[in-house]
Amino acid sequence: MKITNAEFIISAVQPHQYPSDALPEIALAGRSNVGKSSLINKLILRKNLARTSSQPGKTQQLNYYRINEALYFVDFPGYGYAKVSKTEREAWGKMIERYLQNREELKLVLLVIDIRHDPSKDDVLMFNWLKHFGIPMCIVCTKADKIPKSKWDKHKKAVRTTLGATSKDALVLFSSETGMGREELWDVLAQSAGI
Ligand code: GTP
Ligand code: MG
Repeated sequence: MKITNAEFIISAVQPHQYPSDALPEIALAGRSNVGKSSLINKLILRKNLARTSSQPGKTQQLNYYRINEALYFVDFPGYGYAKVSKTEREAWGKMIERYLQNREELKLVLLVIDIRHDPSKDDVLMFNWLKHFGIPMCIVCTKADKIPKSKWDKHKKAVRTTLGATSKDALVLFSSETGMGREELWDVLAQSAGI
């Protein structure tokens, strides 16, 4: 995928703020600090379009990025950040649930997991939620550069087992540092978005 245009569109809280041009949307869900924004930046080869965290857990909006006038990346606020209050967490849950249940433009969710760690309870909940709503997903194990190649398979297996995923669930190994997995992931995205 040749990137000719990538721009930040809006940080949306309310559905009426979501874009209305009906382009396909690819959302990124995952724990805070797992590397969602870095993954977007790497996919589009821009250093800093998607904001990478200086304040983890503080972005309580859906950040929309439009790529090549062809699709949107929707960067979800990360979950599982300890310092977020119960009220904020509930607001997060409502916003995400409403989006996942109602957004027709949503074509795929990237469930972003740090390859080094077993998925958290929140990751498992998100996985089950996506399954329940029948939303297509691709598991992305990122930060692959942080562990030796000889351990990739073992960690991938652990991620699948903890999530309850089968070999039919797509999983891509990725690194925002080295660019590993970039082409493979673009193939998945292009197919899901129909572009
Ligand atoms: P929230 O917006 O708080 O949910 O975080 P996020 O999931 O968007 O994570 P972000 O992209 O901001 O990355 C968090 C930290 O991990 C940053 O310091 C990144 O540089 C680092 N990071 C992200 N991806 C990778 C990767 O593939 N490899 C390495 N080595 N570091 C990474
Ligand atoms: Mg982020």
